[in-house]
Amino acid sequence: MNAITTHHQFLRSGGDATLPRLLKPSPLCRPSFAVRMSLREDAPSLAVVGVTGAVGQEFLSVLSDRSFPYRSIKMLASKRSAGKRITFEGNEYVVEELMPESFNGVDIALFSAGGSISKQFGPIAVDSGSIVVDNSSAFRMDEKVPLVIPEVNPEAMAHIKLGSGKGALIANPNCSTIICLMAATPLHRRAKVLRMVVSTYQAASGAGAAAMEELEQQTREVLEGKQPTCNIFKQQYAFNLFSHNAPVLSNGYNEEEMKLVKETRKIWNDMNVKVTATCIRVPVMRAHAESVNLQFEMPIDEDTARDILKNAPGVVVIDDRAANHFPTPLEVSNKDDVAVGRIRSDVSQDGNYGLDIFVCGDQIRKGAALNAVQIAEMLL
Ligand SMILES: NC(=O)c1ccc[n+]([C@@H]2O[C@H](COP(=O)([O-])OP(=O)(O)OC[C@H]3O[C@@H](n4cnc5c(N)ncnc54)[C@H](OP(=O)(O)O)[C@@H]3O)[C@@H](O)[C@H]2O)c1
Repeated sequence: MNAITTHHQFLRSGGDATLPRLLKPSPLCRPSFAVRMSLREDAPSLAVVGVTGAVGQEFLSVLSDRSFPYRSIKMLASKRSAGKRITFEGNEYVVEELMPESFNGVDIALFSAGGSISKQFGPIAVDSGSIVVDNSSAFRMDEKVPLVIPEVNPEAMAHIKLGSGKGALIANPNCSTIICLMAATPLHRRAKVLRMVVSTYQAASGAGAAAMEELEQQTREVLEGKQPTCNIFKQQYAFNLFSHNAPVLSNGYNEEEMKLVKETRKIWNDMNVKVTATCIRVPVMRAHAESVNLQFEMPIDEDTARDILKNAPGVVVIDDRAANHFPTPLEVSNKDDVAVGRIRSDVSQDGNYGLDIFVCGDQIRKGAALNAVQIAEMLL
């Protein structure tokens, strides 16, 4: 039985009947003694914006798994979800419609309701004194807003303090950027990356809960010989792959690809690093894969690279050539660590100035919710 079968069986068997089936809490979300200790009077008050979505549900899972301390938590979503009930750490909460006054008394607001909601409500939350950790692309390239991967550039948010009474925005990078830089940064620190070529294999979960439902529905329909339903994507997704659905820009790149280019420069604080990317959607339910080719200023051999990656926080090396066992999206689904394998010297570059690696990461988790909760943890 594979991980997806197990997960789906769990999803079908229990959880809160008011939430979409693919988003029911994972077994990891069950309350435990340690978890109940996280509800504390001296802890910050939280709000989760977009709590009914793929990332929003993962926020709850991650907060619980990491025993994030809180004195209260508001569950916010659209008018459509207002009144739905969510059980979190043994307590039942009613989802509230997101309103300007939702942020009164909120210390930390975790946003994952899309860019337009972040643009509209992020500044309102900041004016109310909340520190906003935003998962959308709305503020990522704003030079006043830190763009943070805690293992990579924690210093970027050092000036933001909880309890100062001042609100602030912190942006979570794009999921493909986070997964790529988790692996590339430790190598960059050693040998300085001059150029990076990324090809992505991106899962349905990156497009939200409805896209995951559609992939499952299409797979069933195609196997039954029916026309697949195409509501989220304009073309058949099951048993197919296609260029990422982000809008294509005048330079021929799509927006997802340009996020990798621009966000890497900002996070590494290196406007000269050359990055190019091709982003592809593949019919995988959850977790992205990326092939990354790196060109360095200084030589670095593959054994040194493997050792560096083995010791990198948040990274696990799966690189068994004899067994042909390397990272897969299934193996990293619901996991915190980013997996790296296929670590090899690039034969097209002389003198150990190039490396190829293959990276997989759960982009709802490290690519979104986990990274944001780690950011929030740095505020405590
Ligand atoms: N999926 C990923 O892997 C990933 C990774 C990184 C970043 N992100 C970003 O995170 C955000 C959410 O993505 P997702 O995948 O979780 O999407 P999703 O599954 O479609 O969920 C969207 C959430 O936003 C809420 N929402 C929509 N319109 C709203 C409104 N007018 N007022 C308040 N809430 C509203 C929805 O509430 P209702 O249920 O009430 O409609 C739902 O909770 C996006 O900005 C996305 O780019 C996603």
